[in-house]
Amino acid sequence: MADIDITKYFKPDLKEARKRSKDVSQSVYFDLADDVKGIGEGKTYKIDTYGCQANEADAEIMAGILEQMGFTKTTDETASDLIILNTCAIRENAENRIWGELGRLKSLKRTHPDLILGLSGCMAQEEVVVEKILKKYQHIDLVFGTHNIHMIPEYVKTAMLSKERVIEVFSKQGDIVENLPKARHHTHKAWINIMYGCDEFCTYCIVPYTRGQERSRHRDDIIDEVRSLVKDGYSEVTLLGQNVNAYGKDRKDGYTFGDLLNDLDQTGIKRIRFTTSHPHDLDVKTMEAIRDSKSVMPFFHLPVQSGSDRILKRMNRHYTKASYLEQLARLKDIVPGISVTTDMIVGFPGETEDDFQQTLDLVKEANFEGAFTFVYSRRAGTPAALFEDDTPEEEKKERLQRLNALVNLGYKRGHARFSGHIVEVLVDGESKHGNGMLAGYTEHNKLVNFKGDPDLIGQIVSVRVTESKTWFLIGERV
Ligand code: SAH
Ligand code: SF4
Ligand code: F3S
Repeated sequence: MADIDITKYFKPDLKEARKRSKDVSQSVYFDLADDVKGIGEGKTYKIDTYGCQANEADAEIMAGILEQMGFTKTTDETASDLIILNTCAIRENAENRIWGELGRLKSLKRTHPDLILGLSGCMAQEEVVVEKILKKYQHIDLVFGTHNIHMIPEYVKTAMLSKERVIEVFSKQGDIVENLPKARHHTHKAWINIMYGCDEFCTYCIVPYTRGQERSRHRDDIIDEVRSLVKDGYSEVTLLGQNVNAYGKDRKDGYTFGDLLNDLDQTGIKRIRFTTSHPHDLDVKTMEAIRDSKSVMPFFHLPVQSGSDRILKRMNRHYTKASYLEQLARLKDIVPGISVTTDMIVGFPGETEDDFQQTLDLVKEANFEGAFTFVYSRRAGTPAALFEDDTPEEEKKERLQRLNALVNLGYKRGHARFSGHIVEVLVDGESKHGNGMLAGYTEHNKLVNFKGDPDLIGQIVSVRVTESKTWFLIGERV
C-alpha cells in the first residue's frame, strides 16, 4: 500500500549485518523499568517458537520478561492478549510455514481487534520479510529482531497504549545483556546461552546475518547461572552457541571452551551437554574435558554437511573429508564409546552424483548414530544464493532419500549397541507411547521408554535395556 511511510521504521539490512568489528563485547545488566511493571496484569501471552534451541532460549527470556510485567502464559490462542511468533529463517520451508500462520492469524485479529500480534526471531532480521510485513501484513502490530528481545517491555507498552505499529530491528548486535529473567520450560534441564552469533559464514547459511557477530558471555556469568540452577534442583544444562568450539575467542583472554567445560564440571551439575560444534574449531582440550569430567556427556553433534572436498570448499567449511574423519578418530580414541551425530545438506549448488557418493562414503566410514539431513535451500543475501544450481529438485529429493536410508541404519546400530546394558536415564516425562510408560535420555543421548511412576520425572534412574528399535530403546527399571 502506497500510504505507508516505510522510512519511519527501524528496518534490518543484511549488508550491514555482515560487518564485523574487532571490539570485545561489553555486558550490560537488564532491569525492568518501573513504568512497565504491572502493565500485563490480567492479560495473557502466547509465544510460538520455531527453529533451533537459540530461539527456544530466547522464548524463555521473552516469557520471563513478560511475566515480570504481569502477563500470564496461555496456550489458548483465542484467549490471548499478545501472541508472538518467534521465527526461523534457516530454510524456505521453515519460512513458508510461518507465512501460512501469519495469514491465518489475520482472521483471529478480525474477531479479536485488541489482540497484539508480534513477530520476532530470525525472519525479523531479513529486510525482505520486514518489507512484506509492512506492505501486506498490516495485522502484525509488532516486529523486533534477535538483537533487541530485552527491549520487549517498551515495544509491548507502545503497542498497547498508543495502538501504534512498532517495527524495530537492529542489523547489528549490541552489548551482551545479562540478568535476563527466564521462564524456563523444564524444571530439571535448562538451556544456557554461552555465546551469541556466528562468524563462520558458511556460504549457504543465513545465521551469521540474523544472529550477528560472535560474542561470548563472560565465564563468571555462565558459571553463576549454572550454580543457581543446581541450587534450584536442575540436573542437566545444554550450553548453546552456533559454534561453541569458538567460545571465548572474541574475548581474547586465552580462556577456551575446554576451560569452560572443566570449570562447569566443578559446579555440581550432573549433566552437561552442548550444541552446536564446528569441526574446524574443535580442539583436543575439549575432547579431554569430556573424558576427564564427571558431568560432560559422551555425546557429540558434529555437523559435517558434505563428504566432498570440492563442495566443502564451496561451503566455506575449512576442512576436508579426511581431516574431519581424523578429528572423529581422535575424538573416539580419547572418549571411547562416544555417540556422534551430524547434519548434512544434499543438493548444494553444483553437487554432482560423484560429490554425493563422497557424502555416502563418509557416512559409512564415520558410523554416525544419527543425522539431521536437509535439501539445500537458497537463502537470499548469502553467497551461495548466487551460485549456479542445475540439479533438478527431484534429483535432490532422491539423494536425500538415499542418504536417509543409510543414516537410519546408523540410528538402529546406535540403539542396538545398548541392548542388555544398564543405562542411566534422566526422566523427562510421560512417554508418548502412553501405557504408564516414562521417557528420558541416556548419557549417550538415546531415548528410552520404560514403565515407572510419574514421581520419577526429573530424576536420574537406572534402566536395563530389554529391546532396541530404530528410533528408541525400551527398558525396565532396575
Ligand atoms: N550453527 C549450527 C546450526 C546451523 S543450522 C551448525 O553449524 O551446525 C542447522 C543446520 O541446518 C546446519 O548444520 C545445516 O545442515 C542446515 N542448514 C543451514 N542452512 C541451510 C540451507 N540454506 N539449506 C539447507 N540446510 C541448511
Ligand atoms: Fe551457519 Fe555455518 Fe555458522 Fe553453523 S557455523 S550457524 S552452518 S554459518
Ligand atoms: Fe533458525 Fe535462527 Fe536458529 S534461522 S535455526 S532460529 S539461529
